[in-house]
Amino acid sequence: MKPFLGRRILVTGAGSGIGRTCARRLADLGAELILAGRRVDALRETLPQAVHLPLDHTDDHAVAKFAAECPALDGMVLGAGALVTGSVERTSAACFDRMIAANLRGPWLLCHHLGPLLKDGGSVVLLGSNVGIRAIPDTAAYSVAKAGVHMLAQVLTLEWAPRAIRCNAVAPGPVHTPMVDERLRSAADPAAALEALSRVNPLRRLGREEEVAALVIHLLGDESRWTTGTVIPIDGGANAVY
Ligand SMILES: NC(=O)c1ccc[n+]([C@@H]2O[C@H](COP(=O)([O-])OP(=O)(O)OC[C@H]3O[C@@H](n4cnc5c(N)ncnc54)[C@H](OP(=O)(O)O)[C@@H]3O)[C@@H](O)[C@H]2O)c1
Repeated sequence: MKPFLGRRILVTGAGSGIGRTCARRLADLGAELILAGRRVDALRETLPQAVHLPLDHTDDHAVAKFAAECPALDGMVLGAGALVTGSVERTSAACFDRMIAANLRGPWLLCHHLGPLLKDGGSVVLLGSNVGIRAIPDTAAYSVAKAGVHMLAQVLTLEWAPRAIRCNAVAPGPVHTPMVDERLRSAADPAAALEALSRVNPLRRLGREEEVAALVIHLLGDESRWTTGTVIPIDGGANAVY
């Protein structure tokens, strides 16, 4: 079954982690893909046969330039993002700006410039985070940015509903990706840090990229055609119990 045959989908953050896994899965399901990220080599490694778009999604001019050349889209998976830890008091203004740019300004600009190119009936999935729903210590700027991403999905739900375009956010807990692996490697005791991170949900393990990709693809496809404006935690139950 190729339910995405004939559908053109943009995936950002497609050079690693969740974005890469979503892109590969969508290709298996027949989609025509445009992969975006800053490292074009990584995009090629994801899927050599896709269109590769070197793009810093925080750059208004670059996103506008791409939109001027981009063909009509059936959907978008906006997965690009970055994580820096720290409390409000320990996070500098520059670091705060960097977190807002990487996690919120980027998806905002893509929706701003590419919204008009979405076909009626299309679907967009934003990568939020469960820390954008419930506060945890030491991840202040990232959490605030992700809370903004969740609201962006809801605002777009209203704005795009007349064109039957849906917009949802997924809110993962910690998932084994380069983003989390890097954070673990920088810990004083990486094994203990992994153990502590695994304990934050009732299933007592980190998520897997393919588990998040399965939800993203459900939201992108026709099976979820009455689902819009949701922010769905996918976190081993952490949001339900803590
Ligand atoms: N892993 C988790 O535990 C987790 C949990 C909750 C939410 N999330 C969210 O899920 C998404 C994917 O995360 P991941 O864990 O798969 O991370 P990842 O492996 O680090 O991938 C993030 C991707 O974002 C791209 N990116 C970062 N800044 C960018 C920019 N300014 N312009 C364009 N692309 C940029 C990077 O590509 P380039 O370096 O090539 O630009 C990278 O491929 C992120 O939005 C993340 O916040 C992850």
